[in-house]
Amino acid sequence: MSSAQADVTLHSFPTIFSLSGKIAVVTGGSRGLGLHAASGLIQAGCKKVFITSRKAQACEEACAALNALPNPEGWEEPRAVSVPADIGRDVKEIERLVKEVAKVVDRVDILFANAGATCKWLLIFVCKKVGFVRLSEVTFASFWGKVR
Ligand SMILES: NC(=O)c1ccc[n+]([C@@H]2O[C@H](COP(=O)([O-])OP(=O)(O)OC[C@H]3O[C@@H](n4cnc5c(N)ncnc54)[C@H](OP(=O)(O)O)[C@@H]3O)[C@@H](O)[C@H]2O)c1
Repeated sequence: MSSAQADVTLHSFPTIFSLSGKIAVVTGGSRGLGLHAASGLIQAGCKKVFITSRKAQACEEACAALNALPNPEGWEEPRAVSVPADIGRDVKEIERLVKEVAKVVDRVDILFANAGATCKWLLIFVCKKVGFVRLSEVTFASFWGKVR
């Protein structure tokens, strides 16, 4: 086999981009980009997608729409799970979100961090650098440390 032939030979190509069986959390998943992302994750094969935003009813409606999508791989329903939380208000809300997710699954493969932080983080960064560090540590380290 030539060098070029070897380089274009991609092993397991049909599966390396698959999200089949993955578990995801989408913050701000009740509408807009987050809900688009959640839909994409489900349709790409994720077996569980947790949706969080401040409004419980909006989360429920988003999950109902997501769970009505085709389920060609036959994953256990519901694939979309609502966990309402205000993740921009209080670190305790993020910790509660982590606990709620951990009640259902033993790991998270994908964290789609889409809402509730950008402006407030910038504000905290400008006003109090320690606050920014603490909040970002909780969002990422806490999530990955506790759920993964
Ligand atoms: N759309 C764009 O063209 C664009 C471009 C650049 C960047 N962005 C950024 O991408 C993100 C999503 O944009 P989008 O247009 O999809 O926004 P959107 O339609 O306003 O949706 C925001 C989502 O975040 C949730 N959310 C807001 N504050 C929250 C909080 N404190 N805790 C938990 N959830 C919260 C909202 O639900 P609840 O109201 O129920 O909490 C909603 O589900 C935003 O951060 C935006 O700044 C968007």
